Amino acid sequence: MRIGVYPGTFDPITRGHTDIIVRSLRIFDRLIVAVAPNPRKAPMLNVAERVELAKIATKGIEYVEVEAFNGLLVPYVRDRGAQGIIRGIRAVSDFEHEFQMALLNRKLDEGLETVFLMPSEEYSYLTSSIIKELAMLGGPLHDFVQPEVAEHLRIRFQKGSS
Ligand code: PNS
Repeated sequence: MRIGVYPGTFDPITRGHTDIIVRSLRIFDRLIVAVAPNPRKAPMLNVAERVELAKIATKGIEYVEVEAFNGLLVPYVRDRGAQGIIRGIRAVSDFEHEFQMALLNRKLDEGLETVFLMPSEEYSYLTSSIIKELAMLGGPLHDFVQPEVAEHLRIRFQKGSS
């Protein structure tokens, strides 16, 4: 059984992320979507909301589980018995940072590989930051996130602005 971990901030989970999840399952038998608190990025949603939205967005996909993780990624991946870390790469601009992370993580555990996957071109420009901006300004979200995620964000930001 090959287990992969797909770590990220998922603030919020987008259609680009779910595209990567489906692709990962062509390589791994099971996938753990691991939501990091990542306070450095000042996320708009708290970890519990991000986990909940990731669960909702992946509910139709078999062999996926979603959970939060704290601390360093490498010991977490080891604890979960996984063999690989999945990261999505959209453009060359993603590469440098991803390359650094992958090499650092491999330094921490030589037995652990990072697998880079490319999302479908239609999602290649999509970032959680774009979604956040659209959500906060009341823009249309349905093309970028699952309907339930869009609805959650719409309600969240209506409340926020009242
Ligand atoms: O979705 P993101 O923000 O690009 O995800 C980044 C994430 C969460 C994968 C990365 O920040 C991470 O692995 N955080 C856990 C702490 C850690 O292990 N840091 C050392 C590796 S850079």
